[in-house]
Amino acid sequence: MTSPTDSDVTLIGLGLMGKALAGALLGAGHRTTVWNRTAAKAEELVAQGALLADSADSAVTASPVIITCVSDYASLQQVLTPVADGLGGRVLVNLTSGDSAQAQEMARWTEKQGGIYLDGAIMAVPPTIGTAAAVILLSGPESAFTTHQSTFDALGTTAYLGEDHGLSALYDVAGLSMMWGVLNAWLHGVALLGTAGVNASTYTPFAAQIAQETVGWLAGYADQVDSATYPPDDATLDTHAGGMTHLIEESERLGVNAEMPRLFKALVDRAIAAGQGGSSYPVLVEQFAQPRATSR
Ligand SMILES: NC(=O)c1ccc[n+]([C@@H]2O[C@H](COP(=O)([O-])OP(=O)(O)OC[C@H]3O[C@@H](n4cnc5c(N)ncnc54)[C@H](OP(=O)(O)O)[C@@H]3O)[C@@H](O)[C@H]2O)c1
Repeated sequence: MTSPTDSDVTLIGLGLMGKALAGALLGAGHRTTVWNRTAAKAEELVAQGALLADSADSAVTASPVIITCVSDYASLQQVLTPVADGLGGRVLVNLTSGDSAQAQEMARWTEKQGGIYLDGAIMAVPPTIGTAAAVILLSGPESAFTTHQSTFDALGTTAYLGEDHGLSALYDVAGLSMMWGVLNAWLHGVALLGTAGVNASTYTPFAAQIAQETVGWLAGYADQVDSATYPPDDATLDTHAGGMTHLIEESERLGVNAEMPRLFKALVDRAIAAGQGGSSYPVLVEQFAQPRATSR
């Protein structure tokens, strides 16, 4: 057997995502050790050259970098707690989905074992892993990221977000909010147009154009949020409120669910009640930046 190198990597968890990650590491020429609770899932990877560890313990101690990808943090603890001693001096890169508090707790736990922790979020589906289309967010100690970046780059396009271990999970959930915001707005429009016999495929090019135009406003609006100044260069919140009323009334008249525009309007009404009707739309961040929207 050849001696261990810094580019050796262990992959724990060979579900749909873990298998894709291991396949990409093998494809990039890394000596890859794999372990999965159900060993049979490793067969295909072993045929491609992966080394099958006979226990979680030997998987952890086989490589300087251990990538984990199991269902959730409870499963992760079940796998790692009995083999915690082996983490000393190694880099644990956890790509299991979770929230920022779980990531920070996992970092503290790993550091107690003498290990280094990077937390990651995979913004991709398994078939894209190993291509530039797979975006992998990582946060934690920068030195660990830069030392092993070439290993991570085998998985897709990696983005290092900062030292706070919770950042990957926060970006992940913020991305989900963006995704569902766009999808729900599109579906509401599909339902509205459906009442006039317009099918989704006919409506969608128009919807996509509006979405792209709106995305174009974000960078300028971000400057407003960052400077906490909201000059009404385009439209005031009062004007938006008028448009929202039309959307609610039209939805109700046509028998289409109006819960989503009613929520938008409730937030805007509170900001207007707080004296912000003459400001531009991003002033609404003040309603989002607290547990419950309130009027001051
Ligand atoms: N699939 C995606 O598109 C996608 C995208 C982004 C992020 N992710 C994240 O990636 C992670 C894995 O997803 P997946 O799609 O690979 O799920 P999956 O196919 O259901 O695989 C789950 C993996 O976790 C292991 N596992 C579960 N409980 C365990 C336990 N108690 N002890 C040991 N191992 C345990 C399973 O082992 P067994 O084989 O023995 O059951 C399996 O390897 C999740 O956190 C998911 O949110 C997935």
